[in-house]
Amino acid sequence: MAGIIERYRDRLPVTPETPVVSLEEGSTPLIHAPGLSSILGGDRQVFLKFEGLNPTGSFKDRGMTLAVSKAMEQECRGVICASTGNTSASAAAYAARAGIPCWVVLPAGKVAAGKLAQAIVHGARVIPIEGNFDEALELVVEISEREGITLVNSLNPYRLEGQKTIAFEIIEELGCAPDTHFLPVGNAGNITATWRGYREDHHAGGTPSLPSMIGCQAAGAAPIVGGAPVKNPETIATAIRIGNPASWQGALDAIEQSSGDILAVEDQQILAAYDHLAKREGVFCEPASAASVAGLLKRHETAAQIAPAGGTIVCTLTGHGLKDPDRAIAGVELPAPIPTEMDALRKAMDLT
Ligand code: F0G
Repeated sequence: MAGIIERYRDRLPVTPETPVVSLEEGSTPLIHAPGLSSILGGDRQVFLKFEGLNPTGSFKDRGMTLAVSKAMEQECRGVICASTGNTSASAAAYAARAGIPCWVVLPAGKVAAGKLAQAIVHGARVIPIEGNFDEALELVVEISEREGITLVNSLNPYRLEGQKTIAFEIIEELGCAPDTHFLPVGNAGNITATWRGYREDHHAGGTPSLPSMIGCQAAGAAPIVGGAPVKNPETIATAIRIGNPASWQGALDAIEQSSGDILAVEDQQILAAYDHLAKREGVFCEPASAASVAGLLKRHETAAQIAPAGGTIVCTLTGHGLKDPDRAIAGVELPAPIPTEMDALRKAMDLT
């Protein structure tokens, strides 16, 4: 399958001269979630847009293919980003593909193991800092300007342009926009981009309706919900451990224009949603991704209207569960090995 630049060339800021750096990202599945649908009732149908099936395991690849292609068109010296992990994994892979240097600045000790492994294996220069993501972002913005290195955080306009294609795919699959779209919010680029995609399609005569956009922040890192930056954000969902989102205004616009909302979900609610997705729907996403479903379940529990009866709901699952193996096995103790014997196996299987 072609990547998002080839599929949506006429809706993206590329020319025939743009060198396309692609790993065939996008075209991710929109998976029906029967368990969540039956919890909501009223014949409402919930779908999971599983972005964990992008080439580097997160939605970042949609924006990174365009950001790195444009950087190559502009003959860049290299790329740099601050990251809670996924942006760095994606930047590292696309930079490797393009054959250019990549620097990634990360909050030390707060990046999930799988993401760190990706940045390392793709040959990025990994620079941990003592500060958090917000502080890392301030540093890289300044050095990118001083040194003429291309910033590939979502402040780079091509990132959001690429990421808007998620909405095009959902509309193609459903035939129109869903009634409601839940997604996790960290730096707020994705909610901004997804809403842009829906709107552009609508204005071009595509989907007749537009969804309500519901952003979900972790309660310990919920500056938009609280209306003020959070100096020391904390959550088990390290991907969205962000206290001062760069696209704050974009998120507010999306919420207001779509009659949507922004919610805070507790870590316990995120983990319950993560568990539900893995054990009942068979879909393994990372904790930050489960924030979207935690928001959906929280709304349902408080009896808030989510979608009309018979309506359609999409939750973006932003990253793959294998990104954060430590979270998956946290608190789990495997039993001691058994003798290599049939009787012991039967016993261990609870068959006797
Ligand atoms: N989900 C995952 C898995 C993420 O990695 C991120 C952001 C988000 C949700 C939130 O998206 O920032 O557009 O609101 N990760 C960035 C990173 C910050 O550095 O990988 P957002």
